[in-house]
Amino acid sequence: MARPALSLTVLAVALGLVAFAVATGPRRGAAQTTGQPAAESVTGESVARGGYVLHAAGCLSCHTDSKNNGEPLAGGRVLPTPFGTFYPPNITPDRETGIGGWTLEDLSRALREGRAPDGRHYYPAFPYTSYTGMTDQDVADLWAYLMAQPPIARANRAHELPLPFRFRALLGLWKALFFEPGRFTGDSAKDATWNRGAYLVGALGHCGECHTPRNALGGMDRSRRLAGTAKGPQGKKVPNITPDPKEGIGDWRESDITFFLKTGFLPDGDVAGGAMAEVIDDGTSHLTDADRAAIAVYLRGLDPLSGP
Ligand code: HEC
Ligand code: HEC
Repeated sequence: MARPALSLTVLAVALGLVAFAVATGPRRGAAQTTGQPAAESVTGESVARGGYVLHAAGCLSCHTDSKNNGEPLAGGRVLPTPFGTFYPPNITPDRETGIGGWTLEDLSRALREGRAPDGRHYYPAFPYTSYTGMTDQDVADLWAYLMAQPPIARANRAHELPLPFRFRALLGLWKALFFEPGRFTGDSAKDATWNRGAYLVGALGHCGECHTPRNALGGMDRSRRLAGTAKGPQGKKVPNITPDPKEGIGDWRESDITFFLKTGFLPDGDVAGGAMAEVIDDGTSHLTDADRAAIAVYLRGLDPLSGP
């Protein structure tokens, strides 16, 4: 009979958080300005750089319903997770159904703090837990790119989540426990290539969102970073990508990693499947050779961990 008692506790906490959210209110309105004039940030150069950031960060695969030939970034794909089914929203600049009314600051707060313009918390199925490391420049370029895309009118679909996950306010507690906001700082003892790799893996590429095991509440186990998990975000096995010779990719050469991230071919000639195929198609295959090499250098420099 422990279950009903537990749900009641969860419910009580949820209601407490709702009360807290109502008391503190939204942090900023959507209509407020960014302090940075739009015309200045939406230059052709910034749009082009933003397109690159979009690929490096894998935004397309979640926000495009490719299976049903959906328009890029117009949302609606099915994203099944152990916590319920998500339908990532329309992020084209349509004013009614997309993010056409958003400012750069709204996007920055969504990506790096996991909060909507009206103050609501986002579910970590949107990997802001990694994007929090993004640089100001990358967020601004991404914003310029998104605002330069054609607006697509496509209404969002509500996520299908069981209780208690349906309570968005509970996310305040989740974030207090598991979310560490903060920009990527790097390691001055390491060279520029390693630091670029660390940023691509940890912030933009959000590799750990799938390759790091999670606890029962969905918080990442930082002591086992990138060591793989029997049950990834989509319920399937995700391999260990630390340089452990047996269970990780310790026997992969740097060129094996870069070739894999470019083409999807594993050293044994097999091809990447499932979620990784999307990561490669929409993401890492679009990167420069230098960026793929930086990822490889960073992965090969990790401490080897066994498992899962
Ligand atoms: C792993 C899947 C995934 C990836 C990758 C992803 N998102 Fe999302 N995104 C989501 C989900 C799910 C939500 C809805 C979260 C919620 O309702 O709490 C979301 C919400 C958003 C929102 C809020 C929209 C609104 O109407 O409130 C924005 C903006 C957004 N994402 C932009 C991006 C950008 C830009 C990228 C790439 C840097 C990106 N997302 C990458 C899954 C993803
Ligand atoms: C959306 C989840 C997801 C993300 C994000 C992700 N991966 Fe993967 N990755 C997988 C899955 C699942 C597999 C196994 C693919 C298969 O079974 O064919 C995989 C396989 C791999 C492999 C092959 C390992 C082996 O032993 O076969 C490498 C290397 C890899 N990923 C690197 C990366 C890097 C680098 C990133 C970040 C740029 C990344 N992954 C981001 C899910 C993900």
